Amino acid sequence: MFGEVNISGAKNAAVAIIPAVILCDEPCQIDNIPNISDVSLISRILQQMGANVRRINKSSLYIDPTHINTCNAVTELVSRMRASYYLLGALLGRCGKAKVALPGGCNFGVRPIDQHLKGFEALGAKTQLVDGAIIEAVCESGQLFGTHIYLDVVSVGATMNIMLAASKAKGQTIIENAAKEPHIVDLANFLNSMGADIRGAGTDVIKIRGVGYLHGVTYSIIPDQIEAGTYMCAAAATRGCITVNNITPKHLESISAKLREMGVKITEYDEALKVDATAAPLKRCNIKTMPHPGFPTDCQPQFAALLMSVPGTSIVNENVWDNRYQYVRELIRMGAHISVEGRLAIIEGGSPLTAAPVKATDLRAGAAMIVAALQINGTTEISSIQYIERGYENVVEKFRAIGADIKKVYFTGDNEEELRA
Ligand code: EPU
Repeated sequence: MFGEVNISGAKNAAVAIIPAVILCDEPCQIDNIPNISDVSLISRILQQMGANVRRINKSSLYIDPTHINTCNAVTELVSRMRASYYLLGALLGRCGKAKVALPGGCNFGVRPIDQHLKGFEALGAKTQLVDGAIIEAVCESGQLFGTHIYLDVVSVGATMNIMLAASKAKGQTIIENAAKEPHIVDLANFLNSMGADIRGAGTDVIKIRGVGYLHGVTYSIIPDQIEAGTYMCAAAATRGCITVNNITPKHLESISAKLREMGVKITEYDEALKVDATAAPLKRCNIKTMPHPGFPTDCQPQFAALLMSVPGTSIVNENVWDNRYQYVRELIRMGAHISVEGRLAIIEGGSPLTAAPVKATDLRAGAAMIVAALQINGTTEISSIQYIERGYENVVEKFRAIGADIKKVYFTGDNEEELRA
């Protein structure tokens, strides 16, 4: 891979910030929105609820939430998307009650939301699971009250959902053991720009003083750390040299550090970085995924695909999700030598790979298939690409621009699979 790639806005910030507009008492404009199917889905969900949502241009959305006339989000679209759980916090904050459909399955182990519900209960709502598929949260007095919440596990979703509900609660909420991902800071910055009072986002203690009114703003979403990390892995895996533009180098430190350990040269600029893997042979390395600022689980499959290209034994330790190795059997189809033992994947890198039909078993798994396919002299067919399109804007065009021979072909049945965030 050689050339330059421009990174889009962060998916995991966008899927929280768009529902956060529900809390606002005036219209908002959100810039640097990634053009991905998850954003289309959450936008359509807001429209179904009565919001006026329209694209101003390729990367900006106008959202007027003032006509939202329901606190009920039980539709087929809602159940297709994992991040629909942010509707719970946003609707609770706006109306004091919420009824939201939850996604049925999960694709990398158990994905509980007990910490979200614990937070809502602490704020004064009663929560219950209805028919095994709908979460109902009701605050009888209609007013949530600030409180002290200690999260038992570091959860991105629970941290953001509690921030949403607490933004309009009466008094101060303190979240201890909060997640620190860049998108948590982005959501706090967005809420604060509307007049919320949130301090400490990016540390493990977040303090939220509820306010009565949130005014409209124009806000720009941070760059996507994981999209950037994916292109960095692809450049290293093909021993290429690319410049990754429109990023925040600090958000990529854990990925850059591992690439440097392998012998890749990383040069940081203000809003870009250069990944140069052309010089020395790369060295094997181990990674262990951790909440931010640790190595991100969402870049684990792509990094594993890179490690296949390096002779020697590399060990991946997935420490966030119970089962995020479904992609391994697809890489094995391509000739990879990888064995999974519980949370560990042991990669014997450097063995010759061959083209094979493979499947994107989820979003990042699909990205890993691309990183693997780029290493193979032959044509790899990746199916279920709708998963990739959930989170990567113009993935084909962007890879083509840095030298990949990649094109999109449609097969009947591609869209029949359930989409899960
Ligand atoms: N957990 C609980 N209880 C909860 C919530 C989480 O036990 O109430 C556990 C989970 O089972 C998991 C760990 O805590 O083992 C972390 O889960 P977290 O809540 O942080 O994950 P999430 O908010 O559901 C977001 C991203 C994921 C990303 C994780 C971790 C969105 C929409 N999703 O999920 O992104 O893997 O944080 O960083 O923001 C992706 O983009 O490919 C993706 C899956």
